[in-house]
Amino acid sequence: MSVRQDANVSSELCRNEVRRIKEEIARVICLIQLPRWQQRFLGPHHVTVGHQLKRAFHNESSHLPRWPLKQFFFCVLPAKEGGETPILDCREVYRKVDKDLLKKFADKGLMYVRNFSEGLDVSWQSFFHTEDKNVVEESCRKEGMTCEWTEGNNLRIRQVSRAVAKHPKTGEMVFFNQVQLHHSSCLDSATRKSMLALFKEEDMPRNVYYGDGSLIEDGVMEKLDELFWTTSVSFPWREGDLIMVDNMLVAHARQPYVGPRKILVAMGEMISGADLN
Ligand SMILES: [Fe+2]
Repeated sequence: MSVRQDANVSSELCRNEVRRIKEEIARVICLIQLPRWQQRFLGPHHVTVGHQLKRAFHNESSHLPRWPLKQFFFCVLPAKEGGETPILDCREVYRKVDKDLLKKFADKGLMYVRNFSEGLDVSWQSFFHTEDKNVVEESCRKEGMTCEWTEGNNLRIRQVSRAVAKHPKTGEMVFFNQVQLHHSSCLDSATRKSMLALFKEEDMPRNVYYGDGSLIEDGVMEKLDELFWTTSVSFPWREGDLIMVDNMLVAHARQPYVGPRKILVAMGEMISGADLN
């Protein structure tokens, strides 16, 4: 090995060590901010490489009965290009969204539907860690979901959740959901077309409807998309950046990116629907 190669290896080792130390510091900050029993560095534990598609705006776990109030993002390795995490103020969206639509969302809520089909994505057996249909039905009942066994040993689960909420600490009203992440119109057009060629609307792997099961029109989703992007702010990640968001005040998305990227996500201070009353 030449002196130059030797120096390159040393500086790479040094960079990795600095990265490791920054990651440890971020973990300590999260540990201080979140009680140990609630704090989780979810990962990813590996570097992800290139995503051509953006990830839609969402509040983490807002479609479930329990969700985290605090969420941390820590940049271990920024992407070569793109990969930003745009964020938006859910109070502002609540104030700006069309009033009739807001009333519809508030009154009806949202119904999230997931279809587990054999040979496609994760199976219901892996998802529920059982082969026993009775256990699946009991888990769904406990989580406030309805389940339905469909043709070919497949499973459909439905969860009705709020679309707006009152923040438990500030008392402010927020647009709080995952409608954009689950609605089929938010898939890229090629993926949506091939999915609809394979499945009927009700059999799509993931979808979302108004809480009474009626379709959310594509036009509504287009208006929301425009509002989300004009309301949001974005910044390029730099190695070592750490941001903390209140998951009920702020929704996040992810831009497409090129090359390797590692953004760790931690969350905690879990709350549930009962805490809002
Ligand atoms: Fe997320």
